[in-house]
Formats: sequence, C-alpha cells, structure tokens
Amino acid sequence: MRPWPDESGPVDRPAEQRFGRAPTSSLPDDAAPGLRWLDARLPVISAFRREYVDYPMPHNLNGLWNFGAFVTVTLLVLLLSGIFLAVNYTATVTQAFASVEAIDRQVPSGWLVRSIHMGGVSMYFAALYVHIWRGLYYGSYKAPREVLWLTGMVLLAMTMVAAFAGYVLPWGQMSYWGLTVAAHALGSIPLVGAPLGDWLLGGGSPGDVALHRIYVLHFVMAFATIGIVVLHVLALHVTGSNNPLGVEIRSPRDTIPFHPYYTAKDGVGLALFALAFAVLVFFLPGWLTLPDNYLEANPLSTPADITPEWYFAPFYAILRAGGGLGVPLSAASLAVLFALPWLDGSPVRSARFRPVYRWLLPLAALSFGFLGVAGFHQPAGWWLLLSRVATAYWLLHFLVLLPLLARIEPRPALPESIS
Ligand code: HEM
Repeated sequence: MRPWPDESGPVDRPAEQRFGRAPTSSLPDDAAPGLRWLDARLPVISAFRREYVDYPMPHNLNGLWNFGAFVTVTLLVLLLSGIFLAVNYTATVTQAFASVEAIDRQVPSGWLVRSIHMGGVSMYFAALYVHIWRGLYYGSYKAPREVLWLTGMVLLAMTMVAAFAGYVLPWGQMSYWGLTVAAHALGSIPLVGAPLGDWLLGGGSPGDVALHRIYVLHFVMAFATIGIVVLHVLALHVTGSNNPLGVEIRSPRDTIPFHPYYTAKDGVGLALFALAFAVLVFFLPGWLTLPDNYLEANPLSTPADITPEWYFAPFYAILRAGGGLGVPLSAASLAVLFALPWLDGSPVRSARFRPVYRWLLPLAALSFGFLGVAGFHQPAGWWLLLSRVATAYWLLHFLVLLPLLARIEPRPALPESIS
C-alpha cells in the first residue's frame, strides 16, 4: 500500500501548499476580488487567460487559420438548433416525416431552426474541408503535430457518422434508400460487417428499430464531438499553431498575443462567415439538399438514382467506382489521411518551399473535386472511367508519391525565422 506522504518525502508540491494554506490565484492583483476568489478554488479563469488571452501566436497567420474557429462556432450552432428540433421530432416510421413537416409548417419559427440546422451542416463541412486542405498545404500534420492531426481525423469520422445519421431522421426517400445502401455496404465488410448491419437495422430492412438507433447515434455522436474538440485544442496548445512558412517560432519576436489580435481577426472572419451562412439559410435553403428527400420514404419505390449530400459525394463516387472493392477503397481513401503524418517523411512543412509537392497537391484536390461531382452521376461510361482514374491518383498520391518525394524532392533553403 502506498504510504501517506510524509512531509519530508518526495511529493509534488511543498507541504505548505498542500495543507492548511489558503488557495491562491494567478490572476493579476487588479482583477475583481470575486474572480480571484473563484479562480483560486477553480482555476478555469486563469487557464482561459493563459490559453486564449495571453497565448502567444505566430504573427503571420493568414485567413485560412480562421476556419478552425468557423467549424467550432458552427458546431455549437448545430448542437443548439438540434436541441430545438429534437423537442418536436418523433423517431417513428409513421411519424418522423410528418413531425419534420410540422416543424417546417406549424411550429413557430420551426422552418428557421430547421433551415439553420440543415444549412449549418453544409457550412460545417465546407469549413471543415478548407480546414483540412489548409493543413495539407502547410504541412500542419507533421511532427510534432501528429496527435493534433489524428484527433482532427477522428472528428472528421465522427462528423460523417453524425451527418449520415441525421440525414436518415426525416425519413424521406433518400433517408430510407441511403440507409439501405449504407447497410449493404456495411454488410460487405468481412466478419464484423454483417452483424453490425443487422444490429443497426434491427432486422432485414430499415424500420422503427433502425430509426430509433440512428436517432440515438446522431445525437450521441454530435455531443461526443465536443469532447474530442477539447482534446484537439489541447493538443494544438501543446505544440502551438503552425504558420504559412511552416517554420517553428523561435523567439517572442515571432509572436503576438491571441487577444486582441486574433480575437479581432476571428471576429471579422466570423462576421463574413455568418453572412454567407445567412444567405444560405434565408435565400437558398434548398440549394444544397436533394429534393427527393421531401418525398416520404417508400420501401416499394426505389429512386432512379440514390445520391448522397454533397459532402459525402467524393467517398460515394469511390464506393461506386470500386465495384466489388468499393467499400475497402473508400475506407482506404480516408485511412490514408489518418496515416499521413507517417506517409509524408519530408522535413519541410509548407508547400511554399516544396517545389514538386506544390504541384502534386492541386492534382489531389482536382481528383477529390472531380469525385465530388462524379458522386452525382451514374457510375457508367466516362464518369466511371474518370472516377477510377481519380481514385487511383488519390491513393497513389498518398501511398506512393509522398513517401517518394520525401527522398527525392529538392529542398530550398528555409527562412531562419518567421520574422
Ligand atoms: C469538429 C471539427 C474540428 C474543429 C472544431 C476544429 C477546431 C480547430 C481549431 C479551433 C483550431 C485552431 C485554429 C486554426 O488553426 O484554424 C484547429 C487547428 C487545427 N486543426 Fe482542427 N478542428 C476540427 C477538425 C479538424 C480536422 C478534421 C483536421 C484534420 C485532420 C484538423 C486539423 C487541425 C490542425 C492540423 C490544426 C493546427 C493547424 C495549424 O496550426 O497549422 N482539425 N482546429
């Protein structure tokens, strides 16, 4: 048994701090006494100050560093609007569609909350994709930020599950048939796939049990995301932010405090982002969603083409282009992003100083974008052929070209510091 720490023994803190001394706050002396009292007992205010007020940031971050804040705020908007939707939604096959119609037509401001929630998902994914491509361009996934990158990838996967589950809830045609396609895809995974698909559906075809489970999955994933965001930001604050030059900060001269400089920059960015969000919600509420989902689910009528929402389209195109290998290929296309910090061994971070990578990354972006368009077309003829080429390039880029470039790409001299 561990002995009670003796005052002369090896302990973390001096005895007078552990026993019988009034707790102290590290807030400045001129802070409000009430705040100092609270902070001495629960040091969240000084932690906030350290991490979000005085926190040293590189002084050269461009607008692409605003997108993490955009994703965070959109996540909060989604959670809040989701709670309001949940109080009016009924997760049964006979009532789900009607309850969503009632939210749109009868619940006061229900149309607004639903439009914010639906538009919010698109804004969230748009910001998230920019956030990820920023990381790819500036090499933010490289050491020592591997765990930061991995927590980000976990967030992407969780977001995808939450968004997919959410899309099933209105129980429209695309909800039903999308779920059917996904359950079949799941079933094709060896060993675990079939039992998992059966468990999710609770039987042979989607019904009440499936809808109920997917409802639970939707909000559990959505709220659990907050916990992982906390880990993500914790990991970020261990290493500090990368920057457009990809060179670590070396002295206080390279930094400025988070507040007021980046609070102001994020504030302006958020105002513009909110403007785009408002245009989507008020002027183009149906622009990014498929009209088929305004038809109630009908198990006897299969739509001519089952298409996903735009943010899933690249992965869906890979699923369909891969034929019998569709599921492993689309899983691999995501898995390469998880493994990226170990696939790209080049010590140079920013693409600005990588003469070959700078040209290959746009090709990967082109492949991803093309697959996004192909996801809305039948997998036949040119669409199928080019989807296969794009999938091949995507995998080749990460699995072959990046490890190869680490060895052969010329390395121009890097700047001494960001100043
Ligand atoms: C719910 C989703 C996410 C939220 C709320 C979120 C939030 C944030 C925030 C607030 C920052 C600091 C500001 C910034 O650098 O833009 C950040 C940085 C970062 N995030 Fe995320 N993030 C999310 C998903 C992801 C994903 C999917 C990835 C990629 C796998 C990722 C990778 C990174 C990286 C590498 C950084 C540091 C960037 C740098 O300093 O260059 N994040 N994130």
